[in-house]
Amino acid sequence: MKVRDKEPEDQPWIEKILSERLGGVQVIVHNEIFDAHLLPALVAVEKDGLATFRIQQTNRGKFAELMTLDAVTANQGVGTALVEVLISRLRVEFVTALRVTTTNDNLNALRFYQRRAFRITEVRPGAVNSDRLSNRTVDVIARFRQLVSGGPGMISRSDLTRLTKLLQRFKSGGAVQVEIGSCPDVSQRVNVSPR
Ligand SMILES: CC(C)(COP(=O)(O)OP(=O)(O)OC[C@H]1O[C@@H](n2cnc3c(N)ncnc32)[C@H](O)[C@@H]1OP(=O)(O)O)[C@@H](O)C(=O)NCCC(=O)NCCS
Repeated sequence: MKVRDKEPEDQPWIEKILSERLGGVQVIVHNEIFDAHLLPALVAVEKDGLATFRIQQTNRGKFAELMTLDAVTANQGVGTALVEVLISRLRVEFVTALRVTTTNDNLNALRFYQRRAFRITEVRPGAVNSDRLSNRTVDVIARFRQLVSGGPGMISRSDLTRLTKLLQRFKSGGAVQVEIGSCPDVSQRVNVSPR
């Protein structure tokens, strides 16, 4: 599957897919609001999926955050292709880790990321409300995800889960301590093994 950088002519489609899936083009990650349609992005051709991300340089290193990941049709390799290409790019740019935040009820995403060697590095109980996700947005996401997973019995959404994948191998080859918090609200350190 071919994956490429977004191009200016993708913009209307990017806004459409984000609006359909998130109820708008903005995402709220750890109390910060981002205009996801303006972020750097990878597109799976032919408009089969979208990954938006950001790279942050901090005094502890370079970190990337996957802000949104959407496959138009699930289980056809789109999400995998987008994540793999993003990771290759980030490794070349010496980014230390790729992080993503999802909600406790998104079992499909939690499974997807952990299958790809992301580790759960932070759980914030009750943070969905404190991060001021609007009810409208939450409803849209919930309905969409139910559609994608096709599964009954949704779990109520309350907690934010951050997953991290270490991108660089270190000479020791073993687990290393990674400062996962470039956001001011996170200060914990965790052991993460590159895989
Ligand atoms: C989560 C999400 C991005 C995953 O993307 P995806 O395109 O469905 O993922 P993939 O198809 O690459 O992989 C899913 C499974 O399908 C399987 N698969 C891939 N291609 C396949 C094919 N041609 N035939 C059968 N199975 C296939 C993969 O093996 C994979 O299984 P694994 O995870 O056990 O290895 C997607 O389900 C989605 O858009 N969800 C809604 C939005 C969302 O929740 N985003 C994440 C929030 S942060």
